[in-house]
Amino acid sequence: PVLVVDCGAQYAQLIARRVREARLYSEIVPHSMSAADMLAKNPAAIILSGGPSSVYEDGAPHVDSAIYDTGVPVFGICYGFQLMAKALGGTVAKTGLREYGRTTASIADAGATLAGSPAEQTVWMSHGDSVHEAPAGFTVLAKTDGAPVAAFENTERRMAGVQWHPEVRHTPLGQAALENFLYTVAGLTPDWTSASVIDEQVALIRAQVGSAQVICGLSGGVDSAVAAALVQKAVGDQLTCVFVDHGLLRSGEAEQVERDFVAATGVRLVVANERDRFLDALADVTDPETKRKIIGREFIRAFEAEARKLVHDAGLGEEVKFLVQGTLYPDVVESGGGEGAANIKSHHNVGGLPDDLKFDLVEPLRALFKDEVRAVGLELGLPEEIVWRQPFPGPGLGIRIIGAVNQERIDILQAADAIAREELTKAGLDRDIWQCPVVLLADVRSVGVQGDGRTYGHPIVLRPVSSEDAMTADWSRVPYEVLAHISNRITNEVPEVNRVVLDVTSKPPGTIEWE
Ligand code: XMP
Repeated sequence: PVLVVDCGAQYAQLIARRVREARLYSEIVPHSMSAADMLAKNPAAIILSGGPSSVYEDGAPHVDSAIYDTGVPVFGICYGFQLMAKALGGTVAKTGLREYGRTTASIADAGATLAGSPAEQTVWMSHGDSVHEAPAGFTVLAKTDGAPVAAFENTERRMAGVQWHPEVRHTPLGQAALENFLYTVAGLTPDWTSASVIDEQVALIRAQVGSAQVICGLSGGVDSAVAAALVQKAVGDQLTCVFVDHGLLRSGEAEQVERDFVAATGVRLVVANERDRFLDALADVTDPETKRKIIGREFIRAFEAEARKLVHDAGLGEEVKFLVQGTLYPDVVESGGGEGAANIKSHHNVGGLPDDLKFDLVEPLRALFKDEVRAVGLELGLPEEIVWRQPFPGPGLGIRIIGAVNQERIDILQAADAIAREELTKAGLDRDIWQCPVVLLADVRSVGVQGDGRTYGHPIVLRPVSSEDAMTADWSRVPYEVLAHISNRITNEVPEVNRVVLDVTSKPPGTIEWE
């Protein structure tokens, strides 16, 4: 892999994604890892990420400088660039000045790393100190007002670095620089594709599972669907999928799991219609956290009951040893830098099964980012509607009905949500919008006039957001005509709703979901 050494800022995941966009497999490792441990991973190249603003700061992260003597190509970014400059004998000046945001870099000598760059390029900066002298043997490629040495390389040693952030979109030629380094300076061949991921995972799953039986909980979302499809491809009819229908999915989604997913993959699917169980448990509950806990608890109970039936009644017996989970790479990284146990989301990742139902986990998506999961799903032949499904919370519409949940309210919200989804799709906005929760303010009423009569109905909130990772988000600027169309249709076609409002709050301070 290409190792991305996390020097403590938020950039390591983004760098790892950009490397994969260059069709090379990447992994994130902590800066505290020794050069020997890095070498044990057989790295194709090492990239040092950005970090704090100064290498002279107390407690500033350091990287084992033995990596520069291993012969592995090294690329330094921002703070990583300064670390590298300092370790190799250049000078890093403690300027106390900051250069932040959009900056113009003047290219003195494009070299291999900046090949194809015009004489000046726009780059995104975020640094305090700056490199004043490049290490011996390194060619200075660029400078900015705040950084006399803003990029350098030594092609013989296969090392290079830039002071700016090539991984952010604000540096338009950033990906080109990264690819120049990977392909030309480091000499790597891009060969990491969805097809290679599938081949590799299929082999790993077969090795792990052997002839044992495997179960998988399907949620309707893309992660569990792709994970199940991979396992199905690997071990075929040793897999049984369980779909707990809690009645809180959007209109048509349960049918899509039952029909389209099975048609695309041929999996054996057990559907448990548990709608009444969830409605009963949620009756009169209005507190958001209580709702979440109840839905999570009932989900595990329902799944457990199905798993028990499979293990004890359906003749699969003790052979069911494995449970598939759709854990993704960001979960893995966030729970300890890729080395630790997976952080199990409390809801549909079925973390809380009782002790006498112990399964080993099969997690074929552990190394993948969301967009890669989608690419793998398409390659496996899953329908676009499943692969491109926008994120949907495990507790479903239960946390989009503000107030107590009952069947009548679910019906209202499903109808309004279906209209919003249909119109956003028709306007071609699905890929621009991260997701668009549609929320029913079930305990709020307002006066309206429809036809000749006064109405006293409920508001629907549209919450379209754009985001890269759901950690932060901005409200999407959906064209007014599209909003007008959605509003018209909802108020005309859903009689209980007489008002449609738009949520124009970013995250933070607002979360994406209302509860
Ligand atoms: P918030 O509301 O925290 O949501 O800004 C961030 C993202 O997570 C989704 N979400 C969930 N996903 N189980 C899930 O699998 C949950 O309980 C859950 N709650 C929120 C939400 O839709 C958004 O994409």
